[in-house]
Amino acid sequence: MTSLWKTDVAPPVATPFEPGRRHDVIVVGAGLTGLATALELVRGGMDVAVVERGGIGELASGSNTGKISLLQGTTLSALRRHHPASLVRAYVEANRDGFEWTTRAADELGVPTTVRTAVTHAESAAGVRAVTDEYRAAREAGLDVRLATADELAAGPVRMATAVVLDQQRAIDPMSLLTALAGAFVAAGGRLHLSTAVRRVRVLPRPRIETEHGSLFATDIVLATGTPFTDRGLYFAKTSAARSVCVSFDLVGDVPDDMYLSADDPTRSVRTVTAADGAGAASDRAPQLIVGGAGHPVGRASSERELAEELVAWARDTLPVGTETHRWSAQDYTSHNLVPFIGVMPRTLGRVRFATGYAKWGLTNAPAAALRIASELHGERRRDRPSWMTVIGTRLTVPADLARGAAENAKAGTEAARGWAGALGRSTPVARPAEGTGTVAGKHGRPVGVSTVDGETRAVSAICPHLGGVLEWNDLECTWDCPLHASRFTPAGERIEGPASTGLRRLR
Ligand SMILES: Cc1cc2nc3c(=O)[nH]c(=O)nc-3n(C[C@H](O)[C@H](O)[C@H](O)COP(=O)(O)OP(=O)(O)OC[C@H]3O[C@@H](n4cnc5c(N)ncnc54)[C@H](O)[C@@H]3O)c2cc1C
Ligand code: FES
Repeated sequence: MTSLWKTDVAPPVATPFEPGRRHDVIVVGAGLTGLATALELVRGGMDVAVVERGGIGELASGSNTGKISLLQGTTLSALRRHHPASLVRAYVEANRDGFEWTTRAADELGVPTTVRTAVTHAESAAGVRAVTDEYRAAREAGLDVRLATADELAAGPVRMATAVVLDQQRAIDPMSLLTALAGAFVAAGGRLHLSTAVRRVRVLPRPRIETEHGSLFATDIVLATGTPFTDRGLYFAKTSAARSVCVSFDLVGDVPDDMYLSADDPTRSVRTVTAADGAGAASDRAPQLIVGGAGHPVGRASSERELAEELVAWARDTLPVGTETHRWSAQDYTSHNLVPFIGVMPRTLGRVRFATGYAKWGLTNAPAAALRIASELHGERRRDRPSWMTVIGTRLTVPADLARGAAENAKAGTEAARGWAGALGRSTPVARPAEGTGTVAGKHGRPVGVSTVDGETRAVSAICPHLGGVLEWNDLECTWDCPLHASRFTPAGERIEGPASTGLRRLR
């Protein structure tokens, strides 16, 4: 389950951890949000440390499809349905600044990108309406989109009745970018600590993070962890998380180099990878094709493996693909009001900032968040900042957002009840699970998760340490996933991601 981008990555330069050290800012997480923020801060003269649980690009940032685009599926029309035109325009402006940041950083650091046309297409009647709405919303927000010509529709890799397109977008190998950003950060004097999970963030008496190697202190802390793992602000209940699957194949025919995303259900993403924009992974095996799809709420699919197989079958039926080279999956968060959350975490005396909710468009939203956070920490005056920073920073909650949030939290409640009833309906001891499978059963009224991976059978508490959801086995990735708010754990119970701050209790 390693992404195409991670197969040929130069080892990052990390710095020794010195417990007790004090910094101006500690950034938790070495995805694009964390590294872009850290680089902005260190280049502005601050003393900055980045602390990352795994490696560079451990989660979504190293596992996306590498489309740097202002045309983002049907994002703008969805936003426009719930917000005034001024907010949609501010969202586009934020992403435009993010686009420029990412592409400028890539150019400056020698990371190759290719110029591509982004395409949102549809075949069904509902999809055609969605594409038309997107075209209108994008034009209204100032984007120079156009409708595809008949020739472009005919040349597409899938059947398309209509499509909205935006020229001059970019494709990139995201891991090459992240590795270069990390190198630039360390070269500028930043300290980078990998394989160091932050267990707790405290504000009093002095802001600090606690890790297994000791504590670090700072004036300010930035949580760039996908979703914040502290419950201050209850952002786990204001966002939902969706996982998607990506598969790369050797390309054995002709597919235009445009970046495709369908407005039809199920959503399908298609892009080619050439040596020119896949510097790390693809240089020795170009060209390749990545397909993405199988989107589902975390922990709520009956079988992630089956979803992935459906995606592969679709690719084989539809596209000129040969040998499958990589299969992976990742998750991202969407706020109930569809606007990313960027700013100060409540109840932290203004000392902790965070960013989340990019809805699978982080290559532009993450650097925009970084620009805003860095601007605040550098003390720039409000009136000197781009106006989108103020507009996006204003929390708008309209009845539709409340309804969406209530519906999502009701689903979480249903999952909670279903999980407990299902687990307690089966009792331990259970038969040793087959290789790659896991099962939840009740023991003394408590759900227990038993799995076998790489020949080792392990038992862990199947109660999520966040708020008590009963975990589900992810048969694609061999992980325990929480259907309530998307925390994930290894078979041995270690936390991988999500709002839970600790791992699972291991049982004998
Ligand atoms: C399948 C998929 C395809 C996508 N494709 C695109 C695309 O084509 N274009 C686009 O613009 N966007 C895309 N995205 C979205 C984009 O990848 C994300 O929005 C973006 O990477 C989020 O970046 P981040 O740095 O905020 O979070 P992450 O990349 O999730 O980084 C968070 C980091 O924090 C670390 N961390 C978490 N908890 C701790 C802790 N306690 N201690 C220390 N470290 C911790 C994690 O290990 C991780 O490295 C896609 C997303 C998915 C899921
Ligand atoms: S992530 Fe909230 S209960 Fe599991």
